[in-house]
Order: sequence, then structure tokens, then C-alpha cells
Amino acid sequence: MLSLKELAAKYIDSSKIYKFKTFPYYAEFYEYQFGYIRESAKRVLEIGVHKGGSLRAWRDYFYNAEVFGIDVKQEFMIKDEERIQTFLCDQGKRDELEIFAIENGPFDVIVDDGGHMMTQQQISLGVLFRHLVPGGAYAVEDLHSSAINKYVDGVLTTHLLLHNMVFKGYVKRDKTWQGAMTDDEIDFLVNNFKQVELGASEKGVTAVIKRVK
Ligand SMILES: C[S@@+](CC[C@H](N)C(=O)[O-])C[C@H]1O[C@@H](n2cnc3c(N)ncnc32)[C@H](O)[C@@H]1O
Repeated sequence: MLSLKELAAKYIDSSKIYKFKTFPYYAEFYEYQFGYIRESAKRVLEIGVHKGGSLRAWRDYFYNAEVFGIDVKQEFMIKDEERIQTFLCDQGKRDELEIFAIENGPFDVIVDDGGHMMTQQQISLGVLFRHLVPGGAYAVEDLHSSAINKYVDGVLTTHLLLHNMVFKGYVKRDKTWQGAMTDDEIDFLVNNFKQVELGASEKGVTAVIKRVK
């Protein structure tokens, strides 16, 4: 059986289209984070399909799971591939995410490698954390986007939101601190997360949030 690092190398080559890919650099950390459910995971969701490299790596890694991918671009939809299904869905739109998750969840693992805007990351985390199975894992990939101006769109950064959640045990309820989540979403997240761990590589940082069992 191949490791996630080997699968990332198999499906994400170093050609031009994959020049900026960070996923292979997180593979060892993800393997450490997700190894406990490699066999048991039944449904895995990735936000952000692009050329489908990481979806194929997840499909082979989680060998008993159906892998779902959502993206806003029709051209990235994948057809007729074993255990991979893709859907047009905007991660920044609560209604679309909710309908998609009700119809296809709950998920054992969710990886957000979509648009990386603060609002997108937080709406997705707010809506989808409820659709993660108890004991499941949710990754906010490329968390370093919180430190890059073009991704910071006027709300609290995702990095700070997770920081407050872990180190203060709560997220203060005023507009500055709340970011893009609703009060209900924050309550659910704060009451149901077990831990947040960061994986750093030379290409960036990814966060994995585990849900309590
Ligand atoms: C970094 S690429 C994903 C790469 C893929 N996960 C991999 O590693 O092979 C980001 C993708 O997110 C998609 N995206 C951008 N904004 C989005 C949104 N609002 N909702 C869903 N997907 C979005 C883009 O179209 C693009 O395909």
C-alpha cells in the first residue's frame, strides 16, 4: 500500500500546472493526522478540485471511501472515475454547501483547498463542521493565506479565529472577532472541537481540526 506522500508524487507531478501545489508538502503531516481512519473512512470531501490530483490521492489513500470534490468551475468536474464524484458548489454560499452536505454527507474527512479567502474558509468551516462525523477531521489547507493581503477580505483572519478558539476557549461575539461565522456556527465549533494541530512545511501551513467523538 502506498503512503500519502507516494500517492501525492504519483498524482501531482512537477509540471507547470502543478507548480504552486502545496499538497505534496503536507502529505506526511496528513498521513500522521488521518492514519487512524485510513481504513474506516467512508466519505471524504475536498473543496477545490482543479486537475483532480489530490482527489485521486485521497481516493487511493482512503481505500474504502467515496471521495467527493466541489468546485465552482465546470471545467474541473471529473467524469467516470472510480469512487470520485464532483459537484458544482460554491464554498462561500451557505445554502449551496448545506444542500450538498445534506445530500452527500456526513464526511469522515473534509479538506478545504478552495479559494482560500477568509470568508470562504470560515463559511465552509461553519457549515460543514456539523456535517463531519464525530471523531472526524477537518483540514484548512494553506492557513498561511491569513497572512497574505489578497486573501484577507475584511473579516477576522481564520488563523486568529482558530487561535482564539484554542487558546481562549471561546470566540468573542462582536463583529471584529467573529469573522464570517454565525453565532450558532461558532457555538457548535467551540463545543465540538477536540484539538487543532498545525503542520508546517517549506511551502506553507495547514491546520487540522478534530471533532470530538
Ligand atoms: C488550489 S486549487 C485545488 C487543487 C486540488 N485540491 C489539488 O491539490 O490538486 C483551488 C481550487 O478551488 C476552486 N475554488 C475557488 N473558489 C472556490 C469556491 N468559492 N468554491 C469552491 N471551489 C472554489 C478553484 O476553482 C480551484 O480549482
